[in-house]
Order: sequence, then C-alpha cells, then structure tokens
Amino acid sequence: AVESTANTESGSRIFLYEVVGLRQSEETDKTNYPIRKSGSVFIRVPYNRMNQEMRRISRLGGKIVSIQSMSALEQLNGNAAANGSNGASNQGNVEDASVANNATDEKSRKKDKKGNTMTEAKAKKKDVPVNTYRPKDPYIGKCLSNEELVGEGGIGTVRHLKFDLSAGNLRYLEGQSIGIVPPGVDKNGKPEKLRLYSIASTQHGDDVDDKTVSLCVRRLEYKHPETGETVYGVCSTYLTGLEVGADVKITGPVGKEMLLPDDPEANIIMMGTGTGIAPFRAYLWRMFKDEEKKVNTDYQFKGFAWLIFGIPTSPNILYKEELEELQSKYPDNFRLTYAISREQKNSEGGRMYIQHRCEEYADELWNMVKDEKTYTYICGLKGMEDGIDAALSAAAAKEGVDWKDYQKQLKKAHRWNVETY
Ligand code: FAD
Ligand code: A2P
Repeated sequence: AVESTANTESGSRIFLYEVVGLRQSEETDKTNYPIRKSGSVFIRVPYNRMNQEMRRISRLGGKIVSIQSMSALEQLNGNAAANGSNGASNQGNVEDASVANNATDEKSRKKDKKGNTMTEAKAKKKDVPVNTYRPKDPYIGKCLSNEELVGEGGIGTVRHLKFDLSAGNLRYLEGQSIGIVPPGVDKNGKPEKLRLYSIASTQHGDDVDDKTVSLCVRRLEYKHPETGETVYGVCSTYLTGLEVGADVKITGPVGKEMLLPDDPEANIIMMGTGTGIAPFRAYLWRMFKDEEKKVNTDYQFKGFAWLIFGIPTSPNILYKEELEELQSKYPDNFRLTYAISREQKNSEGGRMYIQHRCEEYADELWNMVKDEKTYTYICGLKGMEDGIDAALSAAAAKEGVDWKDYQKQLKKAHRWNVETY
C-alpha cells in the first residue's frame, strides 16, 4: 500500500478508492460514480468523507479493493495520477466524491493560518492544564481516603485514593495523569523520581466540588528473576499503604493523549486492563453520574460508550458495583464487557484477554470505529495492543481496508488513543 501520511495536512488529503462491483441502480444514478459494466471505478475521496464514502459504496454493492493517498501517488507518478491519466487510474475514470459534499463538509475543510482544518485546530486549541506543579516544587496534598478495591479472594492489592487539592490551583481534565514523588532515596542515594498515575476522578473530583483528585493504584509485586524473593514497587507500595491524613508530593497534571472529545454525541470505545480502568472511570462518571450531569450543562452524554475490561478474577473487577449500576441504568448508552482471564476461556481454551473479546466482536467494533463520531481509548498493559490490532485488521480486511493505514488516519484525527505502561 502507498504510505498515506506523506501530506501532513490530513484534512485536505485526497484518497483514491478503487472500487469493484458497483451496480447500476437508481441510487448510483444520483451519484457521480462512473458505473461501468466491468473493471474498477476510481473515486477521489477527501479525508473527511472517508467514512461516509465507505458506507455509501458498501450500500451500493461496491467493494473497495484499495485505498491510496493521492499525494503519495503524485509523488510516485508526478501530478498525472491526480488527473486520472496515469497507470493507477487507466482502468477506469476517476470520480470526485467531494462533489457530493454538503455545505458543512466544505466548512470543516476550511483551514486556519497554520493550515489545520477547523476540527483539528479546535482540538488543539482546547485549554489543557499541564505541569502546574513540577517535582522541584510539588503540590503537597493530604490523603483523604485510601480504600481497597479488590474483593475477597482476588489477586493482589489495588486501592482507590483521594487527595485534597483545596490549598492550591491544580486543575486537570479527564484522561490526564499526575505524578507522585515517593519519599526517600533510590539505590544510588538520589531522591526518588516521580511515578505517573492516571487520574481516576472527573475534573470535578469524587465529591464534585473541584477540590480533590483520585487515583487507582495497584501495588507492584513480583518475584525477583534471580533471587526468587518477592519485590514490592517503591511508589505503589508507598501509596497503597498511605495513612489517611498523610501529606503527598503531587506533580502535573500531564498528558493530552487520553482527553475526551467535547462532543456529547461521540461514541467512546474503552479497552482497559486492571488499573487501566482509571481514566475510563473518570469518563463514565462524567457521562452518567447525576451529580456530574448537573454541573456539566454543556456535556449531556447522548452517545454510546463501550467498556471492555480485562481482569484476572471476578473479585478483581474494580468499581464493579458502580459499573454494573450504570449499565443497568443506561442500557442503551453503556455496554460493559468483561474479559476475566483466569475464569473465562478464549476459543482456544486459554486465558480470556481483551484481544479475544475484540476478536469475538471484531465486526461490531470495526463498524463503530469507522463512524467518525467514534473515539477509541486503550489503557493498561502494553501486551494487549497487538491482539487488538490483529482483530481489527481482520475485520477491516474483509472490506479491503488496510488497518495500519486506516489506524494512522484515526490517530491523526485523535480518534485512536493509547496509554499503556
Ligand atoms: P518501582 O519500584 O519503580 O519498580 C518498577 C520496576 O520494577 C520496573 O521498572 C522493573 O524494573 C521492575 N519490575 C516490575 N515488574 C517486574 C517483573 N515482573 N519482573 C522483574 N522486574 C520487574 N500504575 C497504577 O497502579 N495505576 C495507574 O493508574 C497507573 N497509571 C499510569 C499512567 C502512566 C502514563 C504511566 C506511564 C504509568 C502508570 N502506572 C500506573 C504505573 C506507575 O507509574 C508505576 O510504574 C507503578 O506503580 C510501579 O511503580 P513502583 O514505584 O511501585 O515500582
Ligand atoms: P493474567 O494475569 O490472568 O494473565 P491486573 O492488573 O488486575 O492484574 O489485571 C490485568 C489483566 O490483564 C489480567 O486479567 C491479566 O491476565 C491480563 N493480561 C496479562 N497479560 C496480558 C496481555 N498480554 N494482553 C492482554 N491482557 C493481559
């Protein structure tokens, strides 16, 4: 496939779809597609109409056999490709799908001074607080609560911690992280460095008073590969064992990858393992909790949210009661799928991981991902990424779409967001 990121102005890029199987019909007569008895049809599609065109083509009985970037083709072949008169397009006419664009599409393609499309520029301009507090002069926040999240019989320790922010000006958005500087020195005698933790509360905090921030922390515990001794992580052990009332050094906030779109009608796919639930708790609380809805008058969620959550055992389902309550209260807007690795089996009899759920629901996920209102977020273990890609790749390939290329476009549009650690 031709590299499709050659042009950095994604909104203005044109793609060339090679389509076979379009049938002459009343509907195709209304389009500008050149329907021929045999051979391929080539359709020029602006980036911001890719999803609609895919849907339209499939509705008209067509199958996309390749998608190529016009700018890359031009680089390969000179400008001839853009005119439909070179090797890439001599099997059929090149039609311009943008002819069918409506006024809104035209408007959204307009660019600002830096050449960004309006939608991109808007996303970039969002006022995101970053590094209000740095390690040299951290905010000192009191621990207000520290509660176990793992139920009886579950594996390890994961705790929900709430810190007081009322004495400073640390503000944050859903999807950001904060740093925690543990006390003491490292093995070289230097002061311990900060560790990052995803924020688990909404920007208003768990008490919806703009005065707290919450985390979801697993105590790191592993067997030393040589000595076999149990090792406990420095910062996670410090946090999970913290007394209520203790002072904690907090830095940040940081991170722009996992921010939620402002659009209350967006669809949000969330895939998380273990403490990867933290940002998703913040999103879901913002979307569905009554107290949040009261204060966020411009964000009354009307989209569809789907959480696929990977945990080892049932007692490890973090925030279980609240998640299930939201699901039963909002069955049309919130879907909850577990991958309980040590209780459920995948189709090959092994542990059930998130990627196996993705495989199971690949077509549904792919259909959602194609919708330009859908934003996907992945948080937790890095190991899940390849499997998720494999599942979507297979579903996309059925429609002749190269997942890697498609995913690059999604990432550019801030619609595929990953924070793994
Ligand atoms: P450390 O004392 O720093 O020990 C970690 C080191 O132990 C590793 O670097 C590695 O050398 C070694 N180690 C770890 N596992 C093994 C193993 N199995 N075998 C051998 N050696 C091993 N954590 C959460 O709990 N919740 C969150 O919400 C969260 N969010 C994060 C968000 C971001 C953006 C990032 C980057 C990380 C996040 N983390 C989160 C992880 C967190 O930052 C810490 O890395 C984690 O708590 C461990 O820190 P520690 O000080 O306890 O461990
Ligand atoms: P398992 O530990 O059974 O192999 P937690 O943080 O609470 O331990 O949860 C992490 C979850 O992610 C567990 O269910 C764990 O399964 C699962 N997991 C471990 N490795 C991977 C991987 N490579 N891909 C997806 N999930 C994984």
